[in-house]
Amino acid sequence: MLGTNVETPPVNLFDFEKIAAQRIHKLAFDYFASGANDEITLRENRQAYERLRLYPRMLRDVDNRTMEVSLLTGQKISMPVIIAPMAFQRMAHPDGELATISAATNAGTIMCLSTLSTCSIEEVASRSSGNLWFQLYVYRDRGITRSLVERAEAAGCKALVLTVDSPMLGRREPDVRNAFSLPEGITASNLLGANLHALPKMSDDSGLAAYIHTLYDQSLTWKDVEWLRSITNMPILVKGVLRPDDAELAVIHGAAGVVVSNHGGRQLDTVPATISVLEKIANQIHGKAELYVDGGVRRGTDILKALALGAKAVLLGRPILWGLGHSGQAGVELVLSLLRQELDLAMVLSGCASPREVTRDLVD
Ligand SMILES: Cc1cc2nc3c(=O)[nH]c(=O)nc-3n(C[C@H](O)[C@H](O)[C@H](O)COP(=O)(O)O)c2cc1C
Repeated sequence: MLGTNVETPPVNLFDFEKIAAQRIHKLAFDYFASGANDEITLRENRQAYERLRLYPRMLRDVDNRTMEVSLLTGQKISMPVIIAPMAFQRMAHPDGELATISAATNAGTIMCLSTLSTCSIEEVASRSSGNLWFQLYVYRDRGITRSLVERAEAAGCKALVLTVDSPMLGRREPDVRNAFSLPEGITASNLLGANLHALPKMSDDSGLAAYIHTLYDQSLTWKDVEWLRSITNMPILVKGVLRPDDAELAVIHGAAGVVVSNHGGRQLDTVPATISVLEKIANQIHGKAELYVDGGVRRGTDILKALALGAKAVLLGRPILWGLGHSGQAGVELVLSLLRQELDLAMVLSGCASPREVTRDLVD
């Protein structure tokens, strides 16, 4: 019979999700997979890629190819795919973030570590080869925030990714129904010293929502980007921008990069798909900051489209968790290798020998 089951090796990233759904505990799977409210943005992130058509060029000598790109951080990655920051990875596999960083290293790319990781910054950095970025959530207690930034810099992280779309947690209804909290033995390891490593157990709400509502700084403004610049030498990327004027503000306040993101459809529902706003933002920024995009990237052709519309690279979210759930480090490596093959094929078939040859006119 045709179709996927646990015995069939996955041939694309969607197969990984089906297998992970059978291997990961329901509480965790729901937390990973869900979007906010009606999940309109979650679906739209995919549908917007599916609607775009490619216009390939022929007879362009694509015999010698590279997918390598150089980033503002001075880092080179083997393909324009970076691992997005995602919390609580030990819920997908006991090795958690340690498996992810090892897979990123073997694939020649960067992992962005979440503030809410289940292995500490120092543990993950000890497995990295300088290919680590740190994602920051700003706590009301600026002493805690400053200490996270200092630890990331001391551990050798090459960029600070400030997430700006989450002053509160989007309402993910499966988490509310499941009264989501962390399973026994899994904690937000970076916050151990501050005694903020555990989520409260709520009877009628997500424990993560309660944690964030109490502890994150809802008074954050663009001025705080300057404060962060004053306490670190790491370049700052602002993640969660959906408007050209906000991207411009990020640049004005000293951001070196902008990640066009709607948090994988998990924050404000009914915001547009990221790929549909990318080009306007690219036109506004006009090379003044490096541009990245995430949300719904599942195919090599999606990456090609994102590059054509102005992104330097994409960030890959949930499929990494599906790879972890499938088989830990090996699963993440498989996910990255499938995507690499798909991007290579998409580039060959559209007449591009390198990311530099991916031009605007490839996409309708
Ligand atoms: C389970 C999960 C946890 C996440 N945790 C964080 C986080 O801690 N910090 C953050 O900035 N973004 C977080 N994100 C958002 C991702 O960084 C990224 O923007 C999004 O997943 C990209 O969409 P995709 O999953 O469709 O690829 C999380 C996403 C998921 C699915």
